[in-house]
Amino acid sequence: MKKKEFIFACSITLVFMSVFSYFIYQENNNKKRIVNVMNEQEQTLFYIKDTKEFKEEYQNMYAQILYHEEDSFFHEINCLLHLNYTPQEINNLYNYVHHENIEKLLDNEKIDLEAYYEIPNFEVDKIPRYEQYQEKNKTSLQEAVLKVNIGLDHDFYTQIEEIEDKEDYQVLVNKYRTLKEYEPKDLKSLSYDARYQLREKAADAFEELVSFAKLENVFIRPYSAYRSYSYQQSIYNTYIQKDGRILADTYSARPGHSEHQTGLAVDVWSEGMNDISEEDALWLKENAYKYGFIVRYPKESESITGYIEEPWHLRYLGKDLAKKVWESQLTYDEYYDLYLK
Ligand code: DAL
Ligand code: ZN
Repeated sequence: MKKKEFIFACSITLVFMSVFSYFIYQENNNKKRIVNVMNEQEQTLFYIKDTKEFKEEYQNMYAQILYHEEDSFFHEINCLLHLNYTPQEINNLYNYVHHENIEKLLDNEKIDLEAYYEIPNFEVDKIPRYEQYQEKNKTSLQEAVLKVNIGLDHDFYTQIEEIEDKEDYQVLVNKYRTLKEYEPKDLKSLSYDARYQLREKAADAFEELVSFAKLENVFIRPYSAYRSYSYQQSIYNTYIQKDGRILADTYSARPGHSEHQTGLAVDVWSEGMNDISEEDALWLKENAYKYGFIVRYPKESESITGYIEEPWHLRYLGKDLAKKVWESQLTYDEYYDLYLK
């Protein structure tokens, strides 16, 4: 055989072998997939059979339910079958719904949850509130879930809960969540003026932001940082005297509800002004996240945050989270419910 013919023959054989191997590989994969699914379904029946949870009348149903390894699984599927959930519905619940929600289903009448499968932040016990909110405000179910989870179907400063982990750098403080009389332990003075303090990481990040801003001709300074519960109380009272409670509530937090009490929020003014200039506000909006801060009360978010726009109020979240929140274009109240709760 000539060299050319030999190379040709080898190439043909190689191509043929590759195609053949690919088909064998695909075939094996398909088989594996089928075996896996069948195993999972059979396992529910297979495992439950030897336990005291086994109920003869559900035998056919068990065979159609995908197996899950949680300890409570058998007890739960018995309850769900008793409530007339079909095996398909049960498979969907374990696929789409948080386990805490499944636990809550066990004490209820059967609920059709299909509409919620694509809404991961829903909570079973809030379903009546979601439906009411949706009906009243003509929103999508997804929006109703988000708004109700924040608490917005109730008036501000009602249904208030105490924040559990007040030290958490991701803490969410708003009109529904109180810090009570919490005081941070790691406050550090800012170089501009020692009377202004932030928690250590926030203070360092703020110094960085101020120096980098300067390089871009943005000159800002702090004018309010950490505020204790009692200090917030006194300024809030002053605002009430001046503007009345309704107006004061649109720009000042009540004591226990201010982000300034966390030591993670700072208000800034432009150098030489008792305000923030439009250019500096724009720079902060577009760049603060790079140093770990977000502008916490953006324009047109009053119905969610409860405050008019505050382009000067920066909240420290750390660089990673601040970037994600900035990219999401959501308020922190919304972002927190969707991704951090
Ligand atoms: N001005 C903001 C909302 C505060 O009082 O915390
Ligand atoms: Zn502020």
